Amino acid sequence: MRSTPHIDPTAPIAETILLPGDPLRAKFIAETYLEDVRQFNAVRNMLGFTGTFQGTPVSVMGSGMGIPSISLYAYELIHMFGCKRLIRVGTCGSLQPDMHLYDVVIAQGACTNSAFMDQYQLPGSFAPIGSFRLIDDVVRRAREENVPFHVGNILSSDVFYNANPNFNDGWKRMGILAVEMETAGLYATAADAGVEALGMFTVSDSLVTGEVTDAQSRQTAFTTMMELALPLAAL
Ligand code: ADE
Repeated sequence: MRSTPHIDPTAPIAETILLPGDPLRAKFIAETYLEDVRQFNAVRNMLGFTGTFQGTPVSVMGSGMGIPSISLYAYELIHMFGCKRLIRVGTCGSLQPDMHLYDVVIAQGACTNSAFMDQYQLPGSFAPIGSFRLIDDVVRRAREENVPFHVGNILSSDVFYNANPNFNDGWKRMGILAVEMETAGLYATAADAGVEALGMFTVSDSLVTGEVTDAQSRQTAFTTMMELALPLAAL
């Protein structure tokens, strides 16, 4: 298998790959949920692993933070390593008052203030959307398992510490559920290549009330989200 500037695989990469932001989260997922695990990447400490979940091959790799980081990894995983289904598992800040800490958010669409879409030179603006097939399957299982979830539009922002205190107001008015920093880039990269992608998150902080999660509960919520994400490999 060939290497790229950012991925030098020492083991195969599966068609389905989970992408948490944090490479140590990727290691945790591999060690906790997968069997027959082999590490495939350590370039820049962006750890990647391949194993099986209930007999189906799955990979998991850190994406880093922000649209440039997740998009370059997604591009290489799709075009050089044959990934067909890319699932971001992360956290987000909620923008709507009816959302609670630890709820699961499924990104039906992902707006952005990034210039990333300019490269496609479209005569208009592109609306990055998640794979309906993946969304549909996660929603069905979330309902069956009584997991509190929200499906809708989110914002993939280029800015975490925004100098404009009113930055979120317009997005909130437009019904944006939550803010994170990667999914629009993932969706556009997948759309350009004709593969499936999904972004799902747990609410780690409320941009309405200022509440933040604690480490122990974050871990529990993360487990709930992983139990929704992993079966996607067998779809
Ligand atoms: N990820 C988790 N919380 C976030 C926030 N408040 N803004 C952007 N990305 C986030």
